[in-house]
Amino acid sequence: MCSLRLVRNGDLGQATPMAQPVIATLTMNPAIDLSYEVDAIEPTRKLRARRECLFPGGGGINVARVLARLGRSVSCVYLAGGTTGPTFEALVAEHGLHAVPVPIAGTTRIATTVHEARSGLEYRFTPPGPNVSEAEWRACIDRLEEMEADWLIASGSLPEGVPTDFYAHLAAQAARKGTRLVLDSSGEALRAGVAGGGVYMAKPNQDEFEKLTGRTFATPQAIGEAAREVVRTSGMIAIVVTLGNEGAVLATADHFEFCPALALETKSAVGAGDSFVAGMVHALAGGEDMADAFRLGMASGSAAILTAGTSLALREDIERLYAEYRKA
Ligand SMILES: Nc1ncnc2c1ncn2[C@@H]1O[C@H](COP(=O)(O)OP(=O)(O)OP(=O)(O)O)[C@@H](O)[C@H]1O
Ligand SMILES: [Mg+2]
Repeated sequence: MCSLRLVRNGDLGQATPMAQPVIATLTMNPAIDLSYEVDAIEPTRKLRARRECLFPGGGGINVARVLARLGRSVSCVYLAGGTTGPTFEALVAEHGLHAVPVPIAGTTRIATTVHEARSGLEYRFTPPGPNVSEAEWRACIDRLEEMEADWLIASGSLPEGVPTDFYAHLAAQAARKGTRLVLDSSGEALRAGVAGGGVYMAKPNQDEFEKLTGRTFATPQAIGEAAREVVRTSGMIAIVVTLGNEGAVLATADHFEFCPALALETKSAVGAGDSFVAGMVHALAGGEDMADAFRLGMASGSAAILTAGTSLALREDIERLYAEYRKA
């Protein structure tokens, strides 16, 4: 497969004969993403829906879809099962992703996004997902133990039954195996993962970061200072706190910077965080420094809002916006 890499002139890629880093994603609670559009959401009446689309979704899967558009070959480890499991698997294959499924008895969830044409608003319905047994989540850890990955991106919520310190186990495993773990989660799962050490980078949004620190922040500057402190105490290499349409803050142990987002017309905010992570990891895995990777993350997150529903960031938009963020 032809691999693409970030190059310094702002172009996203050119063929390179270099050995490519192995990138894997982990999705503990994936979803079949169903989206459609209706004129108006009203009760009782049958609503005629159009533009029905099905995508394989869930944090790690979304990250992998964007990485694949950037030319990366990605292995997707995920739990799937029940009557919807085979459909999910077929969707993963349709998107050219290398599937590493861990079978479970529970039913893979279906998440629905409805775009209301009259108002331009988007309604998102997200069920909790299946209950996972101890044997099933342990099988997942075993599967990851067998894999040799340079990068592992664990993204998304943990389904019921999986202990909240699951990502801490994963971080210890990744550190032992020399895998760089990028963690994008929330609540107790994120807190335990970060506290355990061994995470390379975390990407909370502001709300997730405030829950992680137990504080609230009024300015990007205050977020930067707190984020730098979290990096110092956790042993992570970096943390990025994304602030939606305001931009994002990158912090390492010795510096932080705020990058404001470009003003763009929002079609759908679905997957902005996942696209951000994909852009950053693409650049880091290509040997770029943190500051450049941060800008490709910004471009990828912003590109995600230009596409409707669960379409995620398109490569041509990422490329165009990356040039803008490098100028800014
Ligand atoms: N309206 C917007 N305009 C421009 N860029 C945006 C906008 N919304 C998001 N972004 C870009 O995407 C990044 C991630 O967005 P956000 O902070 O909403 O992530 P998130 O809350 O993790 O999203 P997700 O719902 O996918 O988990 C932002 O830092 C920014 O770069
Ligand atoms: Mg997010």
